Amino acid sequence: MSTPTQTKRISVPEIRARKGAEPITVLTAYTMPMARLLDPHMDILLVGDSLGMVLYGMDTTLGVTLDMMIAHGTAVMRGSERACVVVDMPFASYQESPEQAYRNSARVMAETGCGAVKLEGGVEMAATIEFLTRRSVPVMGHVGLMPQSVNSYGGFKVQGRDDQAARRIVDDARAVADAGAFAMVVEGVIEPLGREITNAVDVPTIGIGASPACDGQVLVTEDLVGLFSEFTPKFVRQYADLGPKIAEAAASYAEDVRARRFPGPAECFGGGPLDSKKKAV
Ligand code: KIV
Repeated sequence: MSTPTQTKRISVPEIRARKGAEPITVLTAYTMPMARLLDPHMDILLVGDSLGMVLYGMDTTLGVTLDMMIAHGTAVMRGSERACVVVDMPFASYQESPEQAYRNSARVMAETGCGAVKLEGGVEMAATIEFLTRRSVPVMGHVGLMPQSVNSYGGFKVQGRDDQAARRIVDDARAVADAGAFAMVVEGVIEPLGREITNAVDVPTIGIGASPACDGQVLVTEDLVGLFSEFTPKFVRQYADLGPKIAEAAASYAEDVRARRFPGPAECFGGGPLDSKKKAV
């Protein structure tokens, strides 16, 4: 009996080794079909808690639950075979204590089969990151603008504009790297700071609204393809505009249904419309 060939996923150590080398490609994925489309092109698929805003219409990410992340993480694992899948830990699932973080991140890893979890925080989360990484839970950090802290910032605001704030973020990045994170997202900081953080830490930085000097880049896929129109941050580059195409398709379908042009013979079983006496086979 021959062994079935299995595509090997990109591993956490392989990502870690990409520091300063070929840029790391990352997009968010929340569902199986999207994961299938993105997987051949991405090093990392991030199941971000941004799904609360993008898929569920929440104003912030704070209402996202662990069960939601596990359901979407499982779907993305089913739709991918090559990329390293990283699942976000949602608000209040890890901040209380290292033990709480371990219990919940172990659940995410075991139930989804993902390669790593991501959590937001700097110096204050270093002990937790160390606790997790020493217990075989690979962690991606997230510093700079941390969306789960939106209420403390008073809005989604670019971070590190003054010197003191910039120093704090560099300290955060160093603490996260020293605690054992294999990579970190650097979000919403002024460009020179994104560059400085990348030079200051020995693990890959993944920028979003940060700097081209980062070791990789991430965007929310729905922003990239024009499927999220609530607001468009300055750092987004839109590569496709699928929203109007979907609306057009829905309008054409509705017209065909109303005019009884859909379904046609090709879309009916038995080669033609069923009369009321025939059974579907
Ligand atoms: O939740 C998310 O999608 C993220 C990325 C935007 C970095 O954290």
